[in-house]
Amino acid sequence: MLGSGKGSNLAAIAEAARQPGCPFEVARVLSDVADAGILEHARRFGLPHRFVAPGKFRTKLDDEAERAYIAALREARVDYVVLAGFMRILKGEFLRVFENRVVNIHPSLLPSFPGLEAWKQALDYGVKVTGCTVHFVDQGVDTGPIIAQQTVPVLDGDTAATLHQRIQLSERECYPATLAALARGEIQLRGRSCVRTDPAGGA
Ligand code: GRF
Repeated sequence: MLGSGKGSNLAAIAEAARQPGCPFEVARVLSDVADAGILEHARRFGLPHRFVAPGKFRTKLDDEAERAYIAALREARVDYVVLAGFMRILKGEFLRVFENRVVNIHPSLLPSFPGLEAWKQALDYGVKVTGCTVHFVDQGVDTGPIIAQQTVPVLDGDTAATLHQRIQLSERECYPATLAALARGEIQLRGRSCVRTDPAGGA
């Protein structure tokens, strides 16, 4: 997993991974922020974790850093690269190496409200329903194929903070459940549509 922030999604995913019968494990946690909460959660769960310096740019990894991230993930033999609040755009070589295997969660119902503070964008726009989206990462920002979405109603009297909090609760359910479906091979990418398939063989 890669993250830059507090790590609530990692905590939910690591907790799910502990449950009997969970089809996935967290192989490694990397962060571009040395004191990020996600590294602290990883330590608490006993998961291998490491700060990997992002290099000289603010919004992306430089070439050397990109190589370091790729090497660390390859070494851990990951099937999927799971992003949770990783604040750097991944492009080019990284997405080629892990083609259709990089997954992200975004705090709105994409394609509405891509980018930063999506919950605030939704509140300011006045929508009645928002939520979270788990999607594959492509070259764009929040534009990749949608794997799963979970709705969250916008309540009268919501503030950006209360809405954000409920979306994050929804993320903590939706992300582990979606990763389990991916790990069980229940999701197939057809064009830009993700289709649920029967792992026993039917489609
Ligand atoms: C999540 O709310 C996610 O929607 C966004 O970044 C946030 C990360 O939070 N992409 P956390 O670090 O998992 O608590």
